[in-house]
Amino acid sequence: MLKIKELSYPINSLEPYYSRETLDLHYNILYKGYIDNTNKTQEKLENSRRENNFTNIKCLEKDLSFYGSGVILHELFFENLTPPIPTSPDNELLEEIIKDFGSYETFKSQFTSASIEVEASGWCLLVYVPNFKKLEILQCEKHQDLTLWGCIPLLVIDMWEHSYYLQYKTKRPKYINAMWNIINWNIVNKRFREAKNYK
Ligand SMILES: [Fe+2]
Repeated sequence: MLKIKELSYPINSLEPYYSRETLDLHYNILYKGYIDNTNKTQEKLENSRRENNFTNIKCLEKDLSFYGSGVILHELFFENLTPPIPTSPDNELLEEIIKDFGSYETFKSQFTSASIEVEASGWCLLVYVPNFKKLEILQCEKHQDLTLWGCIPLLVIDMWEHSYYLQYKTKRPKYINAMWNIINWNIVNKRFREAKNYK
């Protein structure tokens, strides 16, 4: 059974960039819903195996992908955030960003544009692709559509309306510009080090 992961910061500590009301809804209601639905799906799969009855397998596999990816991306997202204290990419990550995107400013510009342009409900991700030995930026639709197999997410921003509508209404650019102030680069740096060592 999956359990909710605790936040590493108080629920009001991302203000003014990410309001208490938004984080409360996002973490306590929506994220919890993904945990509950993933657990239910895994239980149904367990029952199917026990009964050797796979008539509903297509639906269950889709649910596993949707709800399970929802859990994983939300956990990465909440871990990616920090109260507004200055953190930054370390030298190792910065070198890779400059190698793969030309400059930090170009990376930030591409990531911001890609976030704003995510179609409907989805995510924007900075990932490391071990097969390519490079960083890429991806737009994900829903929680599971559009990916590169084997990529390792380093930084993810939730572009579902529930992540910004209460505070920013339909103004996605305002939301993503605010989020740059509360990204925990220490975590992104750590994930990058681990990703580069992944065999
Ligand atoms: Fe979300």
